[in-house]
Amino acid sequence: MKTVLLTGGTGYIGSHTAVELIDAGYKVVIVDNLSNSTVDSIDGIERITRVRPDFVKANCSNLSEMEDLFRKYDGFKSIIHFAALKAVGESVEKPLEYYSNNLVSLINLLQLMKNGGGGNIVFSSSCTVYGQPDILPVTETSPYKPATSPYGNTKKIAEDILRETINVNDSIRGIALRYFNPIGAHPSAEIGELPLGKPDNLVPFITQTAIGIREKLQIFGSDYDSQDGTALRDYFHVVDLAKAHVLALKRLEETRNKTGFEVFNVGAGKGITVLEIVKTFEKVSGVKLNYEIVGRRAGDIEKVWADTSLANTEMGWKVESTLEEALLSAWNWEKKIRQVKS
Ligand code: NAD
Ligand code: WQD
Repeated sequence: MKTVLLTGGTGYIGSHTAVELIDAGYKVVIVDNLSNSTVDSIDGIERITRVRPDFVKANCSNLSEMEDLFRKYDGFKSIIHFAALKAVGESVEKPLEYYSNNLVSLINLLQLMKNGGGGNIVFSSSCTVYGQPDILPVTETSPYKPATSPYGNTKKIAEDILRETINVNDSIRGIALRYFNPIGAHPSAEIGELPLGKPDNLVPFITQTAIGIREKLQIFGSDYDSQDGTALRDYFHVVDLAKAHVLALKRLEETRNKTGFEVFNVGAGKGITVLEIVKTFEKVSGVKLNYEIVGRRAGDIEKVWADTSLANTEMGWKVESTLEEALLSAWNWEKKIRQVKS
């Protein structure tokens, strides 16, 4: 049985990926410092798969804690690196925390992989590296745009670190997946997104408003160049994103990658407006959402969506779930964690 280390594996995307990896026959080891998640997701993963992944509480940016972990497992040949701080606004307030946490973690892992004779790493990158693209949809060769936040910058720098390290270390292979906007939860409602405090992201804000925790959703901007004036993003189901990691890992293990380091866009390939999300949510949940339209949010881009041809042809990945299914799963998860009967 192949073992894979998931850093940040108790978090939103990591926990869904753990389920898909276990289903695909991997032994999963999770390391997380629980800065933005709880061990409850380990229970959720076990309830879905009937297999309990190993869990180690440790900080990936602490080298000695990572050395202990690698020693315990005799190294790792496959790593999926999710662990990162991800709040864009907070990163502007605390740049050093973000650079240190997000980049030192990656450097530690690469160093340990190198010392251990190499291996495969899948990295969580983001569409944020494209900024506001000049041409849509964006392909993997679309240019990097200057990051508007330290968080965004950590993703661009992390890709550079991976590319430059892999270029001179044949034994390490890597894939960066540039996620667009993952939403929703596992259909079992055993795991899902659990933002601490007031959510920054659209879908958790919608579900929390619908359940009554938030009074109303504010829609940021109605003067964008789109069919209804609200901003366009590429939303897709988190379970589809989780499956992309399994395919990326297999590609690396089977050395099907063409170069040592590759990047792939992962999204639905379609721009959807905020109002379309609201209307679709109302349809699938049967709840009328309280919302108001306010001014644009500082730092927001107008529109971005992915060209996913490369992931389709090279990894054999495509979205399987609809927007309706993704939003319904987000709603079922919100109801489950707030113990509301449907
Ligand atoms: P999340 O916060 O739910 O998960 C990240 C996990 O990493 C958390 O459980 C947190 O406790 C852990 N963590 C953070 N720093 C750590 C450290 N130093 N050591 C150990 N654990 C640490 O976030 P997520 O949405 O699941 O995101 C996973 C990855 O995907 C992140 O790298 C994020 O930047 C990236 N990403 C997310 C999105 C999105 O929309 N959610 C989009 C693009 C990229
Ligand atoms: C989506 C749309 C908002 C909340 C974030 C990160 C980015 C990347 C992807 C990680 C926008 C609007 C939102 C609300 C709203 N993540 N909105 N009212 O902006 O694509 O970016 O996720 O790498 O780095 O910044 O996602 O969910 O925050 O917003 O109107 O209360 O919903 O203005 O148009 P976004 P989001």
